[in-house]
Amino acid sequence: MDQVRLGVVGLGNIGRFHASCLLEGKVRGAELTCVCSRRDQPLPATAPVQVFPELPSLLQSGLVDAVVIATPHPQHAAEGIAAFEAGLHVLMEKPIAAHKAEAERLIAAQARHPQTVFAAMYQFRTEPRYRKIRELIQREALGRLVRVNWINTDWFRTDAYYASSAWRATWQGEGGGVLINQCLHNLDLLQWLCGMPARVQGFARLGHYHPIEVEDDVTAWLEWPEGATGIFIGSTGESPGTNRLEITGSRGRLVLEGGRLTVDRNEADMLEFCRTAQDGFGKPKSNREEIPFEPVQEPHVAVMQNFVDAIREGIPLLAPGAEGLRSVELANAILFSSLLHRPVDLPLDGAAWEARLHDLIAQSALAPAGQLDTSRK
Ligand SMILES: NC(=O)c1ccc[n+]([C@@H]2O[C@H](COP(=O)([O-])OP(=O)(O)OC[C@H]3O[C@@H](n4cnc5c(N)ncnc54)[C@H](O)[C@@H]3O)[C@@H](O)[C@H]2O)c1
Repeated sequence: MDQVRLGVVGLGNIGRFHASCLLEGKVRGAELTCVCSRRDQPLPATAPVQVFPELPSLLQSGLVDAVVIATPHPQHAAEGIAAFEAGLHVLMEKPIAAHKAEAERLIAAQARHPQTVFAAMYQFRTEPRYRKIRELIQREALGRLVRVNWINTDWFRTDAYYASSAWRATWQGEGGGVLINQCLHNLDLLQWLCGMPARVQGFARLGHYHPIEVEDDVTAWLEWPEGATGIFIGSTGESPGTNRLEITGSRGRLVLEGGRLTVDRNEADMLEFCRTAQDGFGKPKSNREEIPFEPVQEPHVAVMQNFVDAIREGIPLLAPGAEGLRSVELANAILFSSLLHRPVDLPLDGAAWEARLHDLIAQSALAPAGQLDTSRK
């Protein structure tokens, strides 16, 4: 295929951004041929792009090989399924679906059309700092993982942000708050770097900083199958906020904060040292090293380029769509655990969370914001 003909579905903040990158020719081997938007003239009149007000007509137009879906999350699964059934490739904005059960239905639809390419917009995976960390973990430079702590409180958002679209920060319109929206990127990276935890316990506060019905402040405890534990914190109410990732393994500790990545390498494996040292107060010697990394280069464009290259040349995806299930599952499980006031084991029972979410949606139709009864176990 010489050129992949792309359609962007939903022209809000991010859809408009993707459309302009394509119109500016930033993605090799791709052209924007049409968009799906409810506005009459969503792009400059000079843009050589056909506008469809509804998705089915775009999918059947014969003008696209692939779509980039950038509508609110609860529409992602249904729109993705329709695109796969039309034989089109899909680049899905994050999250791939508003909850796990829907994500599974979407993944199953793609599996019925294996000739299609399914990618997800997890652009943080292209960032050199996270790629360095992944490389360190994969070559076991840190030894056996024992602790993973990530503070993600630098996602500050104002009340005006939440008021900017009716779907935002509602059970119906998002299926959650900071976990399924902002911190979803960090949850994707967390599992991409360290694998999926086996158990989580969440402590989420709903509408703590903003007049919203979903969570905007979360602390979660995580436990991995091999025994490592960790804390994940997310908030949209703190400024300046912190982004500090600390991963401790038996051979050392890595810290990413403030644009610096440092590793303290233990000269001896600390678990082994603990068992064999004769001195009760001794500890392994460690050496600090700063790991340089390149600046980020247009990460969204990099994911879209990779998607187009995968369609044209069959190269591996940076963020396969099916992997998008994991961050959705983590977001759902932490929230579900918070509402249940108990730990939740993974894999999450997606049907149970879907049922609970439907209850929350039904209650929210009746209750003013901030007055939901979330106490039911
Ligand atoms: N990867 C990223 O960095 C990133 C950044 C922002 C948003 N997002 C994701 O993108 C999605 C959209 O977010 P946003 O901030 O652009 O929201 P937004 O509210 O600004 O835009 C959504 C757009 O979709 C349109 N829309 C809704 N239903 C439609 C339909 N059936 N057909 C055509 N258009 C439709 C709306 O009119 C609106 O223009 C969300 O899922 C969000 O999580 C990802």
